[in-house]
Amino acid sequence: MSTRTFGILTSGGDCPGLNAAIRGVCRAAYDRYHMNILGIANGYRGLIDGNVRPLDPEDFSGILTQGGTILGTSREKPFKASEIGEDKVKAIKENYKKYKLDCLVVLGGNGTHTTGYLLSKEGLNILGLPKTIDNDIVGTDRSFGFHSAMNICTDAIDRLHSIAASHNRVMVMETMGHKAGWLALYSGIAGGGDVIIVPEIPYDIKAVANHLNERAKTGKSFSIVVVAEGAMSVEEAKMEKKDRKKRWAEEGLPSVAYRVAREIEKETGMETRATVLGHVQRGGIPSASDRVLATSLGTAAAALLASGEYGKMISQTAGGFGKVDLSVPAGKTKFIPLDDPLLDTAAAVGTCLGV
Ligand code: F6P
Repeated sequence: MSTRTFGILTSGGDCPGLNAAIRGVCRAAYDRYHMNILGIANGYRGLIDGNVRPLDPEDFSGILTQGGTILGTSREKPFKASEIGEDKVKAIKENYKKYKLDCLVVLGGNGTHTTGYLLSKEGLNILGLPKTIDNDIVGTDRSFGFHSAMNICTDAIDRLHSIAASHNRVMVMETMGHKAGWLALYSGIAGGGDVIIVPEIPYDIKAVANHLNERAKTGKSFSIVVVAEGAMSVEEAKMEKKDRKKRWAEEGLPSVAYRVAREIEKETGMETRATVLGHVQRGGIPSASDRVLATSLGTAAAALLASGEYGKMISQTAGGFGKVDLSVPAGKTKFIPLDDPLLDTAAAVGTCLGV
């Protein structure tokens, strides 16, 4: 049965392309299929609280290029036990019914899709759209937000390049990516990083130092190191999480870029600086590529709404736009496979991968 009324929310960290995707879903759903649309504020939190409003064409007009999300977002995880005893899942189910939703469209990353999957098991009709700058969602080749963030990181590496060259320094730049290092890998290759360190490959500081020393011997007096925020050394990777956290707290440095920079200075004697891009990577206008991707995923979601096909995440694969069951991304992370051709590409142009 075709959808008459659906709710739409954005959840998890924001990123460029969310508004383009909202527009893609809503325009097609409204213009082509004449559906009623309810905008839910601040992710799943809005559905718990009943913070819901009708969306009219003027709400989703003129937002294609805007960063952030007109709906607001939060990291609310309704299936996590509530500290104040609130039954969030019950509230969501009640409001879903109260607002007569035929489907809930959720735009988000791994956490959002895991929640969406669990809600579908509770009997709700759910459709998901993959967004995250981390590009770590299983079931889709790309998530929107990634391309824009990669451009921002690459631009930053280009800028750090001239500083590194002028000062004869090593510049260590940290990208986002707690579990998966896609952003560091892609921007590291695009920016010509001399060393790229990702969470999937624990680094050996001796190997990094050796690479920088060898470079120096060939007359290159500066280097760029790109590191993902979740990267750790071989030794740290072997430790229990709590012991690792304790060790980092004792070291008193804000993040991995600072730890790597200090280790490089110690091992090589080279002057080294750390730069952490942080949330800059998630801000501002989406790239043209992300606008096209978000719009395409959004309109594909509207077509599924029209055909009443639920319990799916819209995906992009080599063959175009398709869909996977929500169980595919739920509870998983798409890591860089150790045989990923891009790792070999990096190695082939002389980039050290930390080992
Ligand atoms: O959205 C995912 C992500 O970009 C991670 O790479 C990063 O660790 C996290 O968001 C930061 O989130 P927050 O905005 O909650 O600090």
